[in-house]
Amino acid sequence: MSTILGVNAVFHDPAAALLVDGEIVAAAEEERFSRRKHGKDPVPFSAWELPVEAMRWCLAHAGVEPGGVDGIAYSYDPDLAPPPPAGSPDVTGADWEPLRTLYVRRVPHFLATALPGLPDDRLTYVAHHVAHAASACVAAPDASSAVLVLDGRGEAASHLGGRWRDGALDVLAAQRLPHSLGLLYEEVTAHLGFRRSSDEYKVMALASYGDPARFGAVFRDRVRATGDGGFRVDRIDLAALVPPRPAGAGWGDVHADLAAAVQVRLEEVVLDLASWLHARTGEAAITLAGGVALNCVANGRLAAEGPFEHVWVQPAAGDSGTALGAALALAVRRGERCAPFTTAALGRGWDDDEVEAVLKTAEQPYDRPSDLAEEVAAALADGAVVGWFQGRSEYGPRALGHRSLLCDPRRPEHLGRMNAIKGREEFRPVAPMVLAERASEIFDGVHPSPYMLFVHQVRPDWLDRIPAVVHVDGTARIQSVDARDEPLVAAMLRAFERRTGVPVVVNTSFNTAGRPMVDTPQEALECFGSGPIDLLVLGPFTVRRARR
Ligand SMILES: [Fe+2]
Repeated sequence: MSTILGVNAVFHDPAAALLVDGEIVAAAEEERFSRRKHGKDPVPFSAWELPVEAMRWCLAHAGVEPGGVDGIAYSYDPDLAPPPPAGSPDVTGADWEPLRTLYVRRVPHFLATALPGLPDDRLTYVAHHVAHAASACVAAPDASSAVLVLDGRGEAASHLGGRWRDGALDVLAAQRLPHSLGLLYEEVTAHLGFRRSSDEYKVMALASYGDPARFGAVFRDRVRATGDGGFRVDRIDLAALVPPRPAGAGWGDVHADLAAAVQVRLEEVVLDLASWLHARTGEAAITLAGGVALNCVANGRLAAEGPFEHVWVQPAAGDSGTALGAALALAVRRGERCAPFTTAALGRGWDDDEVEAVLKTAEQPYDRPSDLAEEVAAALADGAVVGWFQGRSEYGPRALGHRSLLCDPRRPEHLGRMNAIKGREEFRPVAPMVLAERASEIFDGVHPSPYMLFVHQVRPDWLDRIPAVVHVDGTARIQSVDARDEPLVAAMLRAFERRTGVPVVVNTSFNTAGRPMVDTPQEALECFGSGPIDLLVLGPFTVRRARR
């Protein structure tokens, strides 16, 4: 038996993943254990901090003792990081970057302290973008593909363009820092008063309200593909375009226009980079990872307008996914065959007895309906907000029917209701889940779309039927649900359709403002207790809110 533990810890979204004989048996983000969103800040001072709880759980889940791990793969290679300033061993130089490198070199020591018995001499450093790339190309169902990685930064680059074929990754292009599409997007995110490295999806949502032409010329001039697989991002004086928006302040056209300008330019450069990769590789498929690959509008355009027949995006495309990617890259290097990624449900789960014990401890009155799908569909059709907790939690930022909040998409007021529960801005859309066999009838675009990574146009005759999930530009970011993969969710959608004629339900993550998704039954109960959720579904059990 071969066991490889993947670890991401260098920036943010610390996470662990475990491969056993090339099978992905567990993967989880530390935030689900520590309850601190994104795990930590991506500053050099925090680079030492490991996803200890996630690592411990991955091993326990597989019944592997720390001493039984054959390889540890860490998704950052200190040998590729910029060297310290000439002649200075001072870790405070270059914005403390040498401190990050120093901490990464000490990882074996930190590992040995955190998980005694772990064979720290079996640690391999995997280049950050190679780890991202492997999380896409090795995990994807395609035997070969072009690979595109875009994020804020790795060791010294912000991008990788490559080709995965015959069990090997060829790196064809790597854009070096300071040029970074991810960092540019982060700059705009911070300038618009949102949280850098966290709230980029808010900029993407706001962009739909804006006119990209207003600042388009500036972005086209300063941000461009260079025709060799890379790109340039020259400095843009954002304050000269739009005054910085204080956090929490109102927003207007000028903010939406700035968001639209960076969004559209990002899409154009992604299309240019993809075209270059297609010309170089001739591959039919492209696989994507890196934080920028969570931009489902850009992904949707790439699928619709790009040269590739198939676009596959790693659901944990942000840094958490490099835990899995590093493990896969090491497995490939060792000549192991790796099974493709078939589900994001790789986190913790509880069996029925365990869930029932939690309910009993909480002294919560609960039921066990004979037909759970019908019961939930009836509540949804009746206007209820449902907390839906089933099976193992999701790896990556999307709730995919395991830790979800659900409601009826026919009611336009449900958008505001969901955003209020979650403390979200009013311009943010909520997303739908839809029966896979009905998806193309209602939504244009990529099908199937099981991981909510593409934006789809809602077909005109459905716009008025599911108003809560239609964004201002007529789009929706769907999750298509296949009964073979998710039988209970599909049964619930079918039951809802029988009642309403609509095979679509609102699906957003099960959490409240600023908190990670609930992971345990206790956390689901706490969220239910503190939020206006009408019905909680915990495995086969239901808990109803008592109304005065
Ligand atoms: Fe990254």
